[in-house]
Amino acid sequence: MCGIVGVLGQHEAAPILVEALKRLEYRGYDSAGIATVNSGALDRRRAVGKLVNLQDLLVHEPLAGKSGIGHTRWATHGQPNVNNAHPHKSGQVAVVHNGIIENFRELREELAEQGIGYETDTDTETVALLAQSILDQGLSPRDAAEKTIARLEGAYALCFLFEGEEDLMIAARKGSPLAIGHGHGENFVGSDAIALAPMTDKVTYLDEGDWAIITRTSVEIRDGEGRIANREMRVINIDTASVDKGGHKHFMSKEIAEQPSVLTNALGYYIKNGKIELPDPGLDFTKIERLTMVACGTAYYACLVAKYWFEQVARLPVEIDVASEFRYREPPITKGTAALFVSQSGETADTLAALRYCEGKADKIISVVNVPESSIARESDLPLPILAGTEIGVASTKAFTCQLTVLAILAIKAAQDRGHMDAKQVAEALEQVKSVPGIMNHALALGERTKAVSRNLAEARDILFLGRGPMYALAHEGALKLKEISYIHAEAYASGELKHGPIALVDEHVPVIVMAPRDALFDKTISNMQEVMARGGKVLLITDEQGAKEAGPGVWDTILMPEVDPFVAPIVYAIPAQLLAYHTAVSKGTDVDQPRNLAKSVTVE
Ligand code: F6R
Repeated sequence: MCGIVGVLGQHEAAPILVEALKRLEYRGYDSAGIATVNSGALDRRRAVGKLVNLQDLLVHEPLAGKSGIGHTRWATHGQPNVNNAHPHKSGQVAVVHNGIIENFRELREELAEQGIGYETDTDTETVALLAQSILDQGLSPRDAAEKTIARLEGAYALCFLFEGEEDLMIAARKGSPLAIGHGHGENFVGSDAIALAPMTDKVTYLDEGDWAIITRTSVEIRDGEGRIANREMRVINIDTASVDKGGHKHFMSKEIAEQPSVLTNALGYYIKNGKIELPDPGLDFTKIERLTMVACGTAYYACLVAKYWFEQVARLPVEIDVASEFRYREPPITKGTAALFVSQSGETADTLAALRYCEGKADKIISVVNVPESSIARESDLPLPILAGTEIGVASTKAFTCQLTVLAILAIKAAQDRGHMDAKQVAEALEQVKSVPGIMNHALALGERTKAVSRNLAEARDILFLGRGPMYALAHEGALKLKEISYIHAEAYASGELKHGPIALVDEHVPVIVMAPRDALFDKTISNMQEVMARGGKVLLITDEQGAKEAGPGVWDTILMPEVDPFVAPIVYAIPAQLLAYHTAVSKGTDVDQPRNLAKSVTVE
């Protein structure tokens, strides 16, 4: 979740580190810091809160040197204060870390026996203390780092810098991704390739257990056993333009607006000449008896929508679970099971662990990911890219609709393979999916309308979202989006479930947002809506013109959607859910792109 970067460069390191941290800030923004070596001396600057605070500090207290490491933090151990901010330093060692050192208490006790105390509440400081204690035994920085790494349990991406060593960085990876960037007479380290994109497009990803000894002219990678490891160097293609706001006030608004265009990319990739083409033509759903889908957060809600698709159109039994529950449940994975993991980042710790649980048990491991170089993509038999482009806003928007689009295409393919759709039905279903970007453009034109409604929503303390069928999944996504960026408490319920308890929450102060495209369950949803209105509930109905007529009078407000085929309605109805959350957050003046307590990539359990 934290972002880390390292530079052995030809120019002053501080501005390069800050620039890279800007690109990593989506991983956490509780504090930021950098350390450099200048004329042999190791020094650091750290500031609480957003990176801009560190930038201000550097204006008053600049840090010189061409070698440096940097960090942007999402706090796990210890409050977000300056003392707990990275880089952590002990004597001649500075270290930045992403992950959790699980045995840090044990290491602290060992160090205490040697009279070495700790000064922060963090697990990471222990790494610096341990490395320094080994240096004190007369070992070289390289050997001290190796011995330190060997003692660590848990998950980490680490980068070490040493006093007196202007041409040395040691990096290590276990459980948290880390990339090495190769330049001319300079080398870099970063949590991901996005951070390194302005410096280089040549990147090597460390494998699990790898560590690397890096100078300006060499990179030596060793595996967990200490053997030299040859890891493939890739030339990556990261659109550096995608990390600016393109005239929008927030990344989230830019990413909402981009959806028709990125979806078109995904459709072009998977549908060629009216036929579905997957990167691996070998995927045959006649050999698959059941599907297990696992993900977290928004990606989980994409799975929840897809469950309806796979079961209804392909008659394929689907089990879904949130990744943090899945593996500890130890579910039996029987023959004939395909396991499918959905993740924007491709690095979510729980989803990756769930994938590893299925390795060797499931017949096929499929992933639906946005980052093709990610761990989840690399460890799958069939990684399916969603082609959403870099998503910077912490609240997922375009990745969600691209995930849905790929899953819809996969469900159609499953229906075709399993004989539940003939060629004509497949062609019709694909036409519906292909019509989504155009319909989305109409839905996006609701910007002003949703803005007006959101001014009222911003007053609420609690909001309920209702839906049936796939719209129940969308209700969850709408509630999640709203709570994460506007901090308004929101819950989703299956419309039919409301009267089994939650309807007690309904009064004139609780807006109830009903998501009701005209599908097979429309009438039932509207009956549930009437039950809410009969109890004084304020209903915001999201439906099309005909739906609004059929629903009758008495609603508090309506958002009129374009008409859309029920199969693809969940993709299109994501737009008002996103716009309502966005405008409500803007109305409340919260930090839309970097909401409190959150981070974009969750690489700890
Ligand atoms: C919410 C959101 C999160 C992510 C979740 C999984 O807007 O973005 O709920 O969906 O943390 O992340 P990925 O998809 O990277 O595995």
